[in-house]
Amino acid sequence: MDTKLHFGIVSTASIVPRFVKGVKASANSEVVAIASRDLQKAQEYAKNLDIAKAYGSYEALFQDQDINIIYIATPHFAHVTYAKAALEAGKHVLCEKPITLTTSDAKELFALAKKKGLFLMEAQKSVFLPTTNYVKTLIQQKRLGNLRHVKLSCFYPYMENEKAWMLDPSKGGGSLYGSGSYAIEYMMYILDATVKSYKGELTYTTYEVDDISDLSFQIGEVDCRSIISRTTKYPDEARFTFDQGEVIVPYFWKAQEVIVSSNGKIENYDFASDSEFVYEVMHVESCINQGLTYSPIMTPEMSISTVEMVEQVYKENRK
Ligand SMILES: NC(=O)c1ccc[n+]([C@@H]2O[C@H](COP(=O)([O-])OP(=O)(O)OC[C@H]3O[C@@H](n4cnc5c(N)ncnc54)[C@H](OP(=O)(O)O)[C@@H]3O)[C@@H](O)[C@H]2O)c1
Repeated sequence: MDTKLHFGIVSTASIVPRFVKGVKASANSEVVAIASRDLQKAQEYAKNLDIAKAYGSYEALFQDQDINIIYIATPHFAHVTYAKAALEAGKHVLCEKPITLTTSDAKELFALAKKKGLFLMEAQKSVFLPTTNYVKTLIQQKRLGNLRHVKLSCFYPYMENEKAWMLDPSKGGGSLYGSGSYAIEYMMYILDATVKSYKGELTYTTYEVDDISDLSFQIGEVDCRSIISRTTKYPDEARFTFDQGEVIVPYFWKAQEVIVSSNGKIENYDFASDSEFVYEVMHVESCINQGLTYSPIMTPEMSISTVEMVEQVYKENRK
């Protein structure tokens, strides 16, 4: 019989309610506890999200014997600390993106998971979406001929009370740390290959962190460009240019539809779903039940090479 995943959640981050919804929609998982550095906050979240247990420290969560997997949703700089602590406590780990800020930390985490015989994956929901697989198949079948170019863009305007850590470069704030892995890992998965070469430019105007990141990268024979902006309005989409047409995936990292345009005809494919997280959660269930320590889809190599690329672009584009 399949092992049921009993998730423990690290933090009361704003992403948590959406993740919990994904777990609820999955076949064989349950969130059994949530931890915050503030017990009252954990209790409020537990009540609102119908989670049985609340802890006032992350360490207490790691010690809960009823939990077999930890979901980490902290500011970026803290991922490595809590992922390591969870693995050391004998738990599988699903860690929010970007898995770490440095290549050495990413390599160390995956090595630790392997040594402990535990599963570790970067939470990259975009590669598990039905829309993503639809586009991947369309490319493989050459339905619109050869793919030539992909432009991915998104606009996340600063909030009125922007999170302090998102404005702090040492904490992994900035547009590239925030969303760079979406475009890079999405394209590596779709094209089944790693990045051959890349060039990145970061724009700093408002804060100490990059407002705009502009990456050009090549995967196989395909040129990709990703623009993530917090100040200028770009369309939230991936736009694939083929010899015989175009495919647009609105909000590609959480997409529910694909628009295919060819020979003067436009077709809309609807993949409506209540949760964009459920596919990722079901994949984790399947990997753990097969005894895997890593995902064959969202692989350690994809995470490590993406962290390496992002780290290098920051090194070359300091403020
Ligand atoms: N997959 C997706 O679709 C998606 C979407 C958005 C964000 N994310 C990712 O999810 C993670 C969390 O992002 P978020 O925007 O939801 O975070 P957030 O709302 O700012 O919350 C982060 C939480 O981390 C905890 N924390 C621990 N150490 C902290 C520190 N030194 N400073 C501040 N908070 C600290 C806090 O929880 P306690 O006070 O409860 O301990 C805080 O509530 C990030 O990795 C982000 O990239 C993923």
